[in-house]
Amino acid sequence: MNYNLPENIVEILNKNQRTQDSTHNNLIREDGYVPPTNELFIDAITALSMGKNILLKGPTGAGKTKLAETLSHLFHQPMFSINCSVDLDAESLMGFKTLAYEDEKQVIKFVPGPVTSAMKDGSFLYIDEINMAKPETLPLINGTLDYRRTVTNPFTNEVITAKKGFNVIAAINEGYIGTVPLNEALKNRFIVIDVPYLQGDQLKELIKSNTRLTDKTMIDLFTTLSADLIHAVDQGKLAEDAASIRALLDACDLSVVIPPKRAILRSIIDKLEEDREKEFVENLAETLF
Ligand SMILES: Nc1ncnc2c1ncn2[C@@H]1O[C@H](COP(=O)(O)OP(=O)(O)OP(=O)(O)O)[C@@H](O)[C@H]1O
Ligand SMILES: [Mg+2]
Repeated sequence: MNYNLPENIVEILNKNQRTQDSTHNNLIREDGYVPPTNELFIDAITALSMGKNILLKGPTGAGKTKLAETLSHLFHQPMFSINCSVDLDAESLMGFKTLAYEDEKQVIKFVPGPVTSAMKDGSFLYIDEINMAKPETLPLINGTLDYRRTVTNPFTNEVITAKKGFNVIAAINEGYIGTVPLNEALKNRFIVIDVPYLQGDQLKELIKSNTRLTDKTMIDLFTTLSADLIHAVDQGKLAEDAASIRALLDACDLSVVIPPKRAILRSIIDKLEEDREKEFVENLAETLF
């Protein structure tokens, strides 16, 4: 993927990269995120370069994690990650105390967590599925997300101020089972970037570059299947994950060796809960392949 970014954005990137490594062309990445529009990329880069946090909003398998990885690559920034769940607690964010031995003497050591590490290192912090966390957990880091860029570590009482370069990229999949609406004060601290499913020619390019499938007719058919699946999800006929690009790419890969209908069965249909959904996708596959 060669990103054709406008000159002012390239300049912003060059200025804000962590290392000025001229040996590697930062605007090319073989398996990077393919943006549906250039604006999506420009806006994300602009916000990050200004030290603002971004919230990637989109359905499962739309490329949110891939986008975060690609951005960290473009900024030459390492990225610490947090995967949110109801079990996420202050320790999994900030770190924890543990017993260790130094010169055969027992000492208490603090093992830093992803938030404290990223702040002190001036790195990116990726918070995945941010709306899976319990509502009372994340406000702990509100201070790191606004102009203060500071947090008090509750386990050591250390006041940590983020080093330049620290940025938060969060991902959210609204409506997914188990998620809670994101706390307003938290949401307010982000610039929202919508991450939709790729479609049409861009999806064809993605299939070509990211799967083993090379047959043009087959690529066209899978692209049509994807459009039909997305349409059915929009109409409420299918659960959201039926249209995941991740699952579609899996089906494309398998179809190189096994019949496409079986590839679709394994990658898409068998993950659906209800019989009528399964039947619906089976019929779609039957008509197309
Ligand atoms: N626009 C895109 N550009 C590049 N790769 C993509 C794109 N859309 C989907 N993919 C591919 O689909 C797969 C899923 O992407 P990814 O894991 O980033 O999705 P996600 O939005 O983070 O999903 P989830 O919400 O389930 O975590 C990856 O293999 C990724 O490369
Ligand atoms: Mg993800």
